[in-house]
Amino acid sequence: MPRYALHALAAAAAALTFAVPAAHASEARDTAAGMPLAKADACFTCHAVSGAKIGPSFTDIAKKYAGKPEDDAEKSVEAGIKDGVKGTMMMAHPSISAGDLDKIADWILSLAK
Ligand code: HEC
Repeated sequence: MPRYALHALAAAAAALTFAVPAAHASEARDTAAGMPLAKADACFTCHAVSGAKIGPSFTDIAKKYAGKPEDDAEKSVEAGIKDGVKGTMMMAHPSISAGDLDKIADWILSLAK
């Protein structure tokens, strides 16, 4: 198969992955340390990888920070999780360890890459 055809196929596959919410995209990331932590902390009660639930999807949160310096984005996401967002259903999570916060934030931010 000529190279350009492969490219077209890859692009089509990428577009499909994007259009069909998550199943495959998220599977590829199941190995990332942050996702099982987010599951264990019940984050998925209100968030999904894609598609809004009670809260915005983790992918949309990641997109909000896309293009910002990585350190700033990570700090903001970690603070959002730890302190919550006042006046919303996003409660504070003071008992999540710094190490776990870091992993969860890394995983969330990886979703827009
Ligand atoms: C009871 C529902 C609920 C639970 C549980 C919950 N969230 Fe949220 N979360 C929300 C809502 C609603 C928002 C949107 C807040 C707003 O309007 O800015 C949000 C926003 C966020 C944001 C974006 C903060 C920002 O910087 O704007 C992050 C990151 C986030 N949640 C991560 C998590 C993680 C990680 C967990 C698990 C430890 C979690 N959430 C658990 C409801 C929830």
